[in-house]
Amino acid sequence: MKTVTVAIIGCGRIANAVHFPALSKLENVRIKYACDLIIEKAEKAKEDFPKTEQVITDYKVALADSEVDAVYVLTPNFAHYTVTMDALKAGKHVMCEKPITVNYKLSKEMADEAEKRGKILNIGVCNRYNRSIELLKQMNDEGKFGNIYHVYCSFRAFRSIPGLGGAFTDKSQSGGGVLIDWGVHYLDLIMYILGVPKLKNVTCDAYCEMAKDMKAYKYRDMWSEDTKDVENGVNDVDDFISGHIRTEKASISFNGAWAQNLDINDCYIDFLGDKKGARLTYGGKFIVCNGETLETEAPEYDMCNMFEREDEGFIESVLTGVKNRNNIENVIETAKLLDALYVSSERKAEVTLD
Ligand SMILES: NC(=O)c1ccc[n+]([C@@H]2O[C@H](COP(=O)([O-])OP(=O)(O)OC[C@H]3O[C@@H](n4cnc5c(N)ncnc54)[C@H](O)[C@@H]3O)[C@@H](O)[C@H]2O)c1
Repeated sequence: MKTVTVAIIGCGRIANAVHFPALSKLENVRIKYACDLIIEKAEKAKEDFPKTEQVITDYKVALADSEVDAVYVLTPNFAHYTVTMDALKAGKHVMCEKPITVNYKLSKEMADEAEKRGKILNIGVCNRYNRSIELLKQMNDEGKFGNIYHVYCSFRAFRSIPGLGGAFTDKSQSGGGVLIDWGVHYLDLIMYILGVPKLKNVTCDAYCEMAKDMKAYKYRDMWSEDTKDVENGVNDVDDFISGHIRTEKASISFNGAWAQNLDINDCYIDFLGDKKGARLTYGGKFIVCNGETLETEAPEYDMCNMFEREDEGFIESVLTGVKNRNNIENVIETAKLLDALYVSSERKAEVTLD
């Protein structure tokens, strides 16, 4: 069995929760480096995932190591670009977390560099490996929904602003708020299931309302609280977003909230077809309503660990050179869409896409 040697760059939440565990299980993967600017984080990861061989703070050490085949870029969004470009130029394959990076222009440069170097560059749009998504895509490909004319999605939570004042809420580091952080998953799934329809135009409104005064923001718990900085940090991103997208196929509308003064979490995608409709509970299962029989069914199937499948798929691509569903060339249109939505919200006007 051929072995793929990897370096994990960024030993934060997603690294520890998802990629170290998944890669630790894969027999054909060697984790040579755990790298983090904060050495204690890399050391902790090595301790928790004993397959890890060495700890470093400078990712360029891993890039200079000819034994390293691939790197995982699990840093805050703004660093995806620099680390990925350096890795590609050093001849490494890359698995980079979502979003690709902070805007479309830089995302496209990353895609072009991967193409130029003949390297695999996958993006962590993990939900594409969710079993529900595979089944919904298959149903749509087989025409079971008839014409899907509209898709609505909601990604709204009561209190979920992550690491207030830190990298997640500082636009210069994140590229945006709830749209780029959560909406990227929802809109990417919709694009994927619809077969990446050509985008026509978009309109969008973004709001930064709930933590305008960071110190006054009330919450029960905060995701990524260890990275918050309400004293000296910045919060200039969308905590609520609302938009409408026209494509050559279905139109799409959405509302997203990292925080709202409604103590409900509404996270789902509705596919409205003229034969059938489906509601997918985000991260969960779906129901289908048949327009002929008027009955609603909840299909039975086993869920899977999408993250393990995502990493398995990446390693397979590295070994075979065959691009898979998470390759940047299959995800780049989502970055174009997010960019257009943000431009529309800034201009307060519709934006037309080529
Ligand atoms: N696929 C998903 O569902 C999912 C879920 C959560 C996070 N993410 C993405 O993963 C990325 C990381 O998020 P997180 O929650 O793990 O953040 P985090 O802040 O917990 O971890 C990021 C780590 O990267 C380190 N780092 C930053 N710059 C570095 C550099 N140049 N070299 C080495 N280390 C560096 C930081 O010190 C930190 O430990 C983000 O882009 C986020 O959008 C994806």
